[in-house]
Amino acid sequence: MGLLVALDRPGGYEELVGKLCSRVDGFKLGLPLLMARGPGYAGLLRRRCRDALWVADLKLADIGYVMRLTAGLVAEHVDAVIAHGFVGVEGALGELKDYLDSLGKRLVVVASMSHPGAREAYDHALPRILETLERLRPWGVVAPATRPRVVGIVRRRLGPGVAIMSPGVGAQGAEPGSALCAGADYEIVGRAITGSDDPVEAAERIRREQEARLSNCRGTSHGS
Ligand code: XMP
Repeated sequence: MGLLVALDRPGGYEELVGKLCSRVDGFKLGLPLLMARGPGYAGLLRRRCRDALWVADLKLADIGYVMRLTAGLVAEHVDAVIAHGFVGVEGALGELKDYLDSLGKRLVVVASMSHPGAREAYDHALPRILETLERLRPWGVVAPATRPRVVGIVRRRLGPGVAIMSPGVGAQGAEPGSALCAGADYEIVGRAITGSDDPVEAAERIRREQEARLSNCRGTSHGS
C-alpha cells in the first residue's frame, strides 16, 4: 500500500516534508513548484526525507534529445521522472529510458490521465500506449484513480513487475484505496493533503481509509 504526496503549488515545503516523511511513501514534485523554485529545490526537499520515493512530474512529451536535457536538470535529486506515453519509443521514450538507466534513475510513463477530458483522446489511445509500454518496460506507469477500470487494464496487461501510480484521489473525486484495490501500488494525493488545514492529520486519515478499503476489497478481483 502506498501514498505519494503531490507538491504542486509554488511555496515552501521543507517543514511539511519533514512532518510527512514517516507517514507517506514519497513525494511527487510538480512543474509549477520546480519552475518557481528551480530543480535544486528538489535536492533541498530530499534532504528532509532521504529514503522516500521522489518523483519529478515533468510530464515530458518531446523528442528524446529534449526530454533528456530536461530530465537531466533534476535527475540527480529524484528517483524517477514522469513522461507522457503517446510520444512513442523510437526517438523519444526509448532514448529517455536509456538515459535515465545510465544515471540509475527510473522512468514513469503516463498510460492515461485522471481528468474527464482524458476520455476524448487519451483513453482511445490506451491500446496503442499499452503496446508502447510492453516494448519499453518502464519502471512505473501512471493510471487514473478516477477510472479504476483503466488501472486494472494496465495491471493485467503489464503484470506485477511494474509500479502503478494513480492520481485523482481526493480533490478529483476518487476514494482513497480505490486505485489500490484495482491494482495500483501508489495513490497520489495533492490538494486533499497540501490544501488541508492539518496536512498531517489529512495524510493519516487517507492512510486509514486506504487500509479500510483495501481490507474490504482483498479477495475480490482487480479492476472491478
Ligand atoms: P490533486 O491535487 O488533484 O493532484 O490530488 C493530483 C496530482 O497528480 C497529477 N496528476 C496526474 N499526473 N497523470 C499524471 O501523470 C494523470 O492522469 C494525472 N492526474 C493528476 C497532478 O499533476 C497533480 O500533481
